[in-house]
Amino acid sequence: MDHGQSKTLLLFGATGDLAKRMLLPSLFALHADNLIAADLRIIGTARSDLDDAAYRAMAGEALAKFLPDARKDDATIASFLERIGYQPLDASTIEGFDALAAKLGDVSGGMSIFLSTAPFLFEPTILGLKSAGLAGESVRIGLEKPLGNDLASSCAINDAVAEAFPESRTFRIDHYLGKETVQNLMALRFGNMMFEPLWNANGIDHIQITVSETVGLEGRHGFYEDTGALRDMVQNHMLQLLALTAMEPPAELDATAIRDEKVKVLRSLRAVSPAESVRGQYGAGAVGGTAVGAYADDLAKPSDTETFVAIKAHVDNWRWQGVPFYLRTGKRLAERRSEIVIQFKAVPHNVFAPRGGKLVANRLIIRLQPEEYVRLLVMAKEPGLDRGGMVLREVPLDLSLTDAFAKAQRRIAYERLLLDLVDGDPTLFVRRDEVEAQWRWVDAIRKGWADGAVTPKSYGSGGWGPSAAIALTERDGVSWND
Ligand code: BG6
Repeated sequence: MDHGQSKTLLLFGATGDLAKRMLLPSLFALHADNLIAADLRIIGTARSDLDDAAYRAMAGEALAKFLPDARKDDATIASFLERIGYQPLDASTIEGFDALAAKLGDVSGGMSIFLSTAPFLFEPTILGLKSAGLAGESVRIGLEKPLGNDLASSCAINDAVAEAFPESRTFRIDHYLGKETVQNLMALRFGNMMFEPLWNANGIDHIQITVSETVGLEGRHGFYEDTGALRDMVQNHMLQLLALTAMEPPAELDATAIRDEKVKVLRSLRAVSPAESVRGQYGAGAVGGTAVGAYADDLAKPSDTETFVAIKAHVDNWRWQGVPFYLRTGKRLAERRSEIVIQFKAVPHNVFAPRGGKLVANRLIIRLQPEEYVRLLVMAKEPGLDRGGMVLREVPLDLSLTDAFAKAQRRIAYERLLLDLVDGDPTLFVRRDEVEAQWRWVDAIRKGWADGAVTPKSYGSGGWGPSAAIALTERDGVSWND
């Protein structure tokens, strides 16, 4: 049974970085805009021994630090902090959960849990929640990554969660699905007539998906060193972008229909051969004019973890036969940028050639961040009398979403996802079969690397990754959209 809007939101990891940077500011924005019910209580929990007042003070400091200035309003912050309470908990033992239940009181009116925790704490936390009566029918759980680091460990976590929460009450978070422009991908594909008829192997030559970052380790040494770019970014965010780009139109815009279509794509991914993947690790260099050190120096020891990965992927179904999907992501690259580039095929015959007219095939660029735009590059004739031949040039048909919707409030991903969690809408959360298909594909890539003793190639910080990543596309006659 669906319990609709929750009356309580329980935040694990309430004193952590994610809570301070993202969750509290997002909840504040929802509060300020009256998007969450006035009687929704927010209870934080973590190991630190704080009381309500001390946690409110900590939350207040986090808001002061991370809210944009335009959002800061003392009275609204004060009324938001009144909603918040705190209960200390050592989630590794079952004892503290009864005190947590006592603090929460009656949750039969509906509770949503946001669980972000170290992998080894998933199982005890679920057990604790169950034993304290905090996993009943009226409770749903949102799970933040990392949810395991391969198929086996992900299954173990999912099994442990499933002991207490059925799939219908389990909401796996991939924050990329909460991004406005990722939502826009569906509007673009399924709300317009002109793209869909060409959106297949007849019309498209290849697709590129880039998620590049300028940041390095950001203090997450232990986590990142055990994870690497393939598992940190490709397994989740990039494969979700690929699935949304490649999926068939769903019959309806509901959770089952959309996720059914995505999982079909994820299951159609062809195993990647070692020659179709590139691992990289950043060396010293300069990013945005600032000199930065190598990964191994940041880590203070040599390492075999990749901070960059490029992959030539294939979706083995009718629609995408013969269309490569080039994926790349990395830290300490030239720019922060997430984009999907659809490279259309060339027209079948260039009628302008006898008059010197050169054609470039159309390209659609969907920029997800930091700017938000959709740009279609089309051919046009340069004005003139063309005595020396006809000059054709690529010009952009630009849709700047930032300008077109300048008045609309921009929302960060967690605002949407927290609201959907509290409202009980699972559409933008990842279903178990999707996660497992993602891991299966990624595990096989890692096995290929291990079998072939493939170590990361060094690349200079501030560039676009190792030269092998350039060769990966160039040998197909394709250039990355840099
Ligand atoms: C996280 C990764 O999931 O996504 C980080 O763990 C990465 O390493 C981040 O920096 C990128 O998210 P965004 O929203 O800044 O593109």
